[in-house]
Amino acid sequence: MNILVTGGAGYIGSHTLIELIEAGHHPIVVDNLANSSEESLRRVGTITGVAVPFYEIDLRDKDGLENVFQDNAINAVIHFAGLKAVGESVAQPLDYYQTNLGTTFSLLEAMERHNVTSLIFSSSATVYGDAKTMPITEDSQTGIGITNPYGQTKFMIEQILRDYSVAHPDWNITLLRYFNPVGAHPSGKIGEDPSGTPNNLLPYVTQVAIGRREFVSVYGDDYDTVDGTGVRDYIHVVDLAKGHVAALSNAQPGVAVYNLGTGKGTSVLELIHSLEKAVGKAIPYKVVERRNGDVATNYASPEKAARELAWKAEKTIDEATADSWRWQSMNPEGFNNSTS
Ligand code: NAD
Ligand code: UD1
Repeated sequence: MNILVTGGAGYIGSHTLIELIEAGHHPIVVDNLANSSEESLRRVGTITGVAVPFYEIDLRDKDGLENVFQDNAINAVIHFAGLKAVGESVAQPLDYYQTNLGTTFSLLEAMERHNVTSLIFSSSATVYGDAKTMPITEDSQTGIGITNPYGQTKFMIEQILRDYSVAHPDWNITLLRYFNPVGAHPSGKIGEDPSGTPNNLLPYVTQVAIGRREFVSVYGDDYDTVDGTGVRDYIHVVDLAKGHVAALSNAQPGVAVYNLGTGKGTSVLELIHSLEKAVGKAIPYKVVERRNGDVATNYASPEKAARELAWKAEKTIDEATADSWRWQSMNPEGFNNSTS
């Protein structure tokens, strides 16, 4: 199938391109490079031997997007594009609402004009807000206790897509709720390349390991968890990417929702120690105050995806940290100035 991948130059999108190509699909990328680099697409070309068609446009540029749909006989869309930094969304809420909702509106309009009726949307475990019963199943409460505009946009887009589905019951809409994506392609050629200070734990820890930052601040060690530090469901980005391929081939009319997680929780200290094994040296850290808005524990029930998509995460935390370290050490400054 010809698959339009919005945000395909980004972290999860670029890994998904590889899995799509390996499964025999033909991806086409739209990305405005707001949080990514065209170098990631060149690397995907090196890994797969396929030059993915790329349109550098803002998805909200309706004429530009119209050209993409006219140039390509698109069969389905995977919609990754959007802004994702939680802290920034609190400081710049209008940017987040305008970008995340606006890109989705112009995409739906273009799909409708061209009768493309299959859509996979990148949602997030953040829609579960402060859900307390673990593991989190897809029918757990959503929308209560979301603490930031980024999370609200994911919750709102889910609702918009459900409303859209009522009006267009023949469309296949899949909402994939990611838990905590980590790791990198095992080649070390592509990976997560955060601009500025990383918001998420593992990219921060790998930057400490490579010497770009002094120590990891561990946000609290007095939670009711295995060692007092926060527990999350870290999923290898290659497994996550494969989940999209599985969802494509199982698309059915209506709205389907799946958690993409491992079902296993890992603490902050366990993650740091796993990376230490890959690096072969101790990683300095200091325990500091809890971070506002954090919960103690969060992990998925991945059973529904296993049952209906025949997909499950296969890679371990040690594989994820080893792959992240390979990417970081081969590309100490990310895609900038690197020679991989
Ligand atoms: P990313 O920032 O690496 O990728 C998003 C891509 O979208 C970037 O390449 C960016 O340049 C592009 N983009 C942003 N605004 C655009 C616009 N107006 N027009 C065209 N392109 C635009 O992020 P990611 O980690 O790969 O995340 C992909 C998706 O998954 C996002 O929707 C994100 O919210 C969601 N998600 C990510 C995580 C995570 O922890 N990484 C967790 C849950 C959900
Ligand atoms: C964060 C976002 C969430 C988003 C998710 C994936 C918040 C409140 N939540 O969740 O909306 O969907 O990322 O992108 O920002 N930690 C440290 N030190 C650090 C960084 C993190 O100890 O420097 C701890 C955190 O307290 C947490 C764990 O590491 O226990 C993971 O943190 P993080 O990577 O930010 O992910 P989430 O908190 O799950």
